[in-house]
Amino acid sequence: MPKANEHVVVIGGTSGIGLPLARAAHALGCMLTVAGRGAERAAEVARSIGPSVTGLHVELDDPTSIRAALADGPAIDHLVLVPIDQCATNIKDFKVEAANKALHVKLTGYIEVVHTLLPRLKPTSAIVLFGGLAEAKPYLNSTMITVANAGVVGVMNTLAVELAPIRVNSVSPGLIGDSPKWQAAAKKGAQGVLDALAARAPARHLATTDDVIHAVFFLLDNRSVTGHDLQIDGGDRLV
Ligand SMILES: NC(=O)c1ccc[n+]([C@@H]2O[C@H](COP(=O)([O-])OP(=O)(O)OC[C@H]3O[C@@H](n4cnc5c(N)ncnc54)[C@H](OP(=O)(O)O)[C@@H]3O)[C@@H](O)[C@H]2O)c1
Repeated sequence: MPKANEHVVVIGGTSGIGLPLARAAHALGCMLTVAGRGAERAAEVARSIGPSVTGLHVELDDPTSIRAALADGPAIDHLVLVPIDQCATNIKDFKVEAANKALHVKLTGYIEVVHTLLPRLKPTSAIVLFGGLAEAKPYLNSTMITVANAGVVGVMNTLAVELAPIRVNSVSPGLIGDSPKWQAAAKKGAQGVLDALAARAPARHLATTDDVIHAVFFLLDNRSVTGHDLQIDGGDRLV
């Protein structure tokens, strides 16, 4: 677990599963910065978490916004990068501009954030990047999500070596059944699909947001784990 008064920065902490992750860090007494798209919205989300939380506008497809938001500020103990550009595409209907944006967000965007924050990281700092099971298990229209999530593991590997002794790990969740994205899909009729996937998984349930937060906090905390991609998928990649 991150400790009280340690500074946690969650890029993509303004919505999706990044928001409960940010709230969980705040509940531990951490100093917290969240970043997402839109200065007003980020500030509003930050206020909703707590009066001392900082909210910043960051668009990962725009390096200028990354530098403007993150170049200056207090030292950072824990950095978590959550965003994804939900680019649904396949090779037949490939749109290169949309595909490039997906790569900019999850690959060069993540790297530019770490590059910009480097002077604010300490030798004891830890970083967690978000990948996903699609890296190993493509599904309909997951082409760019598969490519981006596979790339995250490569980014994690090189950062773990280049930034040592700063530790760098990644999480690759399977479908997170209680995430806002899948709760919305369930309301639109996807509950049967979720139930079937849960029944198929060796753990016989889908990963939850709490499971993912637990894994992220483990990776941030454990001083001997670096260069590791932790799969939070109930064993789904095996079946
Ligand atoms: N949900 C799942 O079942 C699942 C499964 C496997 C892996 N994952 C991984 O878990 C992570 C979070 O997933 P999620 O379901 O929470 O996704 P989500 O609901 O789509 O949230 C996406 C997040 O990315 C941010 N974002 C999107 N485009 C951005 C951009 N161009 N610049 C900056 N921020 C941007 C959004 O911030 P705004 O507040 O600005 O909108 C939001 O915080 C992703 O990396 C995903 O690959 C999730």
